[in-house]
Amino acid sequence: MTKKHLIEKAKEVSRKAYAPYSNYKVGAALLTKSGKVYTGCNVENSSYGLTNCAERTAVFKAVSEGEMEFKEMVIYAESPNLPTPCGACRQVLSEFGPELKITIISNKEQLETSISELLPLGFRF
Ligand code: THU
Repeated sequence: MTKKHLIEKAKEVSRKAYAPYSNYKVGAALLTKSGKVYTGCNVENSSYGLTNCAERTAVFKAVSEGEMEFKEMVIYAESPNLPTPCGACRQVLSEFGPELKITIISNKEQLETSISELLPLGFRF
C-alpha cells in the first residue's frame, strides 16, 4: 500500500461523509501493520454532539474487525482548512500506541506528523 494509494482512499471515503450541518466532509484511511486499510468518514447528527469524526469511524471499524496495530493514518478534507484531529480523536488514536504516523491534507496544504506530536502525555490507564 503506497502513500499515494492511502491518500486516494481517504479522498474517496470523504465523499461518503454525512455532514449536512457543517458541510465539512472528512475522510480517514488507516493502514494496519498487517497491510489492511480501514476507511472512515464523519457522520453528523441533528443532535450535534453525537457526531462521529472520520478518524474515530476508521479506528472503530478496524478494532471491531480485530485489528489493533496501526502504522499510518491519512486524514483528508476538501477544504482550505487542514482537518487536524480534534482532542477526542487524538486520545482515541493514542490508545493504540505512540508510533502512529499521521498525514493531514487539505486542498491547500499537507502536514506530516505523528500521534505523539499531536497528543503528548495523553491519558493512559
Ligand atoms: N471532523 C472530523 O471528522 N475530523 C476532523 O479531524 C475534524 C472535524 C468533523 C466533525 C464534524 O462533522 C465536522 O468535521 C465539522 O466539525
